[in-house]
Amino acid sequence: MAAPQAVPWSGYAHRVEPRREDVLGALERVIDPELGRPVTELDMVREVRIEGADVFVTIALTVAGCPLRSSFENQVRDTVGGLPGVGSVSLAFDVMSPEERQALTTKLRGGVTERTKGISLDASTRVLAVASGKGGVGKSTLTANLATAFARLGHRTGILDADVYGHSIPHLLGIHQRPVLVDRMIVPPVREDLNLKLMSIGFFLDGNEPVMWRGPMLHRALEQFLSDVHWGELDTLLVDMPPGTGDVAISLGQLLPRAEALVVTTPQALAQEVAARAALMARKTNMRVIGVVENMSGDVFGSGGGAALAADLDVPLLGTVPLDARLREQGDAGHPLVVAEPTAPAALAIVEIAEQIAATRREQGVGIVKQLPVVA
Ligand SMILES: Nc1ncnc2c1ncn2[C@@H]1O[C@H](COP(=O)(O)OP(=O)(O)OP(=O)(O)O)[C@@H](O)[C@H]1O
Ligand SMILES: [Mg+2]
Repeated sequence: MAAPQAVPWSGYAHRVEPRREDVLGALERVIDPELGRPVTELDMVREVRIEGADVFVTIALTVAGCPLRSSFENQVRDTVGGLPGVGSVSLAFDVMSPEERQALTTKLRGGVTERTKGISLDASTRVLAVASGKGGVGKSTLTANLATAFARLGHRTGILDADVYGHSIPHLLGIHQRPVLVDRMIVPPVREDLNLKLMSIGFFLDGNEPVMWRGPMLHRALEQFLSDVHWGELDTLLVDMPPGTGDVAISLGQLLPRAEALVVTTPQALAQEVAARAALMARKTNMRVIGVVENMSGDVFGSGGGAALAADLDVPLLGTVPLDARLREQGDAGHPLVVAEPTAPAALAIVEIAEQIAATRREQGVGIVKQLPVVA
């Protein structure tokens, strides 16, 4: 057999052994998709072993059965596998101990071990509550598509599905993993391709008695839930509100700091009346109504209701989204229309609404939250 020819500059010819510090450096580019930080920073790298050209890495996951293994596998293969001299990369998983999880929680909370009341968000996070007076007007569809549009504008975006009666956002986005519980911190699942984080109150509702969804007990439970969710750094959080002006909507209104509300209506007059009630509720809970969206405009329902409501409320009509069956079809398939069919008129209308909202930054000092008494 002929001797292999030496090829100048090739890793093979020089037999460069991968260096430990290079492997660790590469692992700094492996990001935990849910926590949004490098695995090195999260103390998740349990072992790095180098045998000749073969690199063995072990990562400790927060919980066993973490649904994101393949994301870690792809990232480690791409980063470590690209280093000079690396022949093969093997990735093994381990699970953090309760102590490690607790240390991680403390780290993520910035050293604050005491649980704080209310939703944990940066002061710079914009909270947009999508509200309506009645059900079925397209709130969830708009929330999912607007969030996708914001993410595509480069905002770090999360969705809180707070519609205790429907919680349809997981379905609309095809996010089926459950949130991960790290110590007492709830980590929202992400949809990586859309770069969206999702928390649904439905995850938390399971097994809870409906009686809880009333009065002060509800308020405390919601407060607890919201304070346990770890959103990380977010630019925009969209909240799919429960329809109407019930206890849950009012409690949420009080617990979401500095929220701005978007009121969704259909073109008919009755829908406007109920939407006006939702707007009133938003104002009562110190949300600032930033505009109206008319959904399902077109021949069947006519149009103009959104403009009338916007005039009534003295806020802008941010857009009209036409009736388009593809919104429902793509939603049912877990693909927001704004990515599935970005040139559809309904998708364009939604993206334009997101751009308009993104262009308006909340003025400083408007709508400072005044704590209202708990509604019983
Ligand atoms: N512009 C539109 N054109 C066609 N269908 C739409 C449009 N907007 C929403 N839909 C469809 O209307 C139905 C209701 O929409 P959606 O679930 O988003 O409303 P909702 O206000 O969140 O309702 P609920 O009160 O039940 O939570 C869904 O089947 C959805 O796909
Ligand atoms: Mg809904």
